[in-house]
Amino acid sequence: MGRIAKLGVFCAAMIPQGINAAVTFAIPSKVGDGGHSYAPLDPAPLGISFEFFAFPSYLTNVTATNQCLSNWKDLTGVWPPIRIGGTTQDRASFDASTSAYVVYSVANPADAPMTLTFGPKFMSLAGTYPGSVVVGLNRGKNNIDNTIAAAKVAVAEVKNLLAIELGNEPEYYPKDGQPIASGTWNPSVDASSQVDWNIRVGSAVGKTNIIQAGNWNQAPPQWGAAQLIAKENATSKQYVRHYAHHNYPGGDIQKLQSHSQTASNVRSMFAADVAAVKQQTGKEYVLGETNSVSGGGAANVSPTFGAALWTMDYALRLAATNISRTYFHHGTVGNCQYCFWGRYSMGAPYYGATAAVALTAGARTIAALDDGSTKDGVYVVFDGEGRALRVLLLNSEYYAGGGARRGAQVFTLTGLGAVGEVRAKRLTGVSSLARVDRGDAISFGGQKWTDGTCVVAGKEVFETTRVENGQAAFEVKAAEALLVYLR
Ligand SMILES: *[C@@H]1O[C@H](CO)[C@@H](O)[C@H](O)[C@H]1NC(C)=O
Ligand SMILES: *[C@@H]1O[C@H](CO)[C@@H](O)[C@H](O)[C@H]1NC(C)=O
Ligand SMILES: *[C@@H]1O[C@H](CO)[C@@H](O)[C@H](O)[C@H]1NC(C)=O
Repeated sequence: MGRIAKLGVFCAAMIPQGINAAVTFAIPSKVGDGGHSYAPLDPAPLGISFEFFAFPSYLTNVTATNQCLSNWKDLTGVWPPIRIGGTTQDRASFDASTSAYVVYSVANPADAPMTLTFGPKFMSLAGTYPGSVVVGLNRGKNNIDNTIAAAKVAVAEVKNLLAIELGNEPEYYPKDGQPIASGTWNPSVDASSQVDWNIRVGSAVGKTNIIQAGNWNQAPPQWGAAQLIAKENATSKQYVRHYAHHNYPGGDIQKLQSHSQTASNVRSMFAADVAAVKQQTGKEYVLGETNSVSGGGAANVSPTFGAALWTMDYALRLAATNISRTYFHHGTVGNCQYCFWGRYSMGAPYYGATAAVALTAGARTIAALDDGSTKDGVYVVFDGEGRALRVLLLNSEYYAGGGARRGAQVFTLTGLGAVGEVRAKRLTGVSSLARVDRGDAISFGGQKWTDGTCVVAGKEVFETTRVENGQAAFEVKAAEALLVYLR
């Protein structure tokens, strides 16, 4: 109601029932214009994190994995980055003598092992991946000789090794009974430990710029990069390639998919820590592990289309905040609510993630045009010549389905230039609650990905919209997004 009252130019009668008054965004005529904050884009800003013990299963025993990753490579020309790690990296010991990828036993296949070993073949398998790889190793057990032995094999075998992590979410070491935290353990003690391990592991493998440092889940500044950097000296610094943080925002679907909530989470959690890293080191900041709800996801939240909208919005908001890459976590095969794919079914979040990949494909720069205060998100990307390439429009209003009236938002874009029309692909689902594994309709540009294989199905559908005087209007329903191709 407030919107309509404020926009005097619109006569209420002109606005179809259920559609909010239009919101207008000007597309910058070139990168840097319009007083927006711009961030450089990684060639592949969306990545996948595989839980350490489950990584060999994902690569050798889950058919969809290779196809789901190669679908993104087809869009961007670059294989998505992967990270191998998680809680079980700090439960794992290297065993040079085993010919297996991993050795462990669990009472129930839905469980993660409490302890495991892995052999050189684990790293050889990681070395077959054509995209960049981050390998997470153990610090919790406080057995640096074993970790150095593993790191040497990682360096030798993983040809696209981007970085090594030394410990996952170390703030939880006391709770997990990890030996390294048997005395006092706090951000300062952990930072000193990271500084020490970075030097000892980095020098043992004879490589600088090799460590992905940080890797906490608890919020900065307490558990953040800035306090770690303050502890580093020049020797330690040279081994750090970049800094990483984790995050699982949680909440119900309504809260999770809310754009203002996502924008506020990214701003309050990361903006200052990212800026500190940029200013003090000039290095990258990545989201090393994330997904909707911690602990494998929540059954009534993580597999939904609302979570797909969050996945897309979150990845883009992070990218627009100078976070270079975001790795969405994949846990125990067969017990993973937030996974993008599994053995038998696709997860709705893959649809949102793919829309984000399609927006950023081949682009060099991203900016958020909205201020994060409403349900409406607008992201624009620019090519190497600084020209606006694509725009993504998100209406994050929750829609529960069940025959209720579905709201819609009209986005008016100006500054589109002298083009007659633009094309767009729609990301849609029957409701925020829609799930692929329940047979609910979800699609991106009219297409789906086949359960079990991740092969695309259906004809690609582009909508066309007329542009007049450099301006066009797009309707985006509640819980929908539209990817507009400007050239
Ligand atoms: C990203 O970092 C660059 C410097 O590396 C800075 O110029 C730019 O303003 C930053 N963008 C945002 C959105 O913070
Ligand atoms: C592959 O997955 C199936 C189904 O869960 C399982 O029975 C089999 O042991 C797995 N094989 C390997 C090599 O992990
Ligand atoms: C940095 O600290 C380590 C001890 O943690 C020390 O061995 C090294 O010499 C120091 N480097 C510099 C440049 O002070």
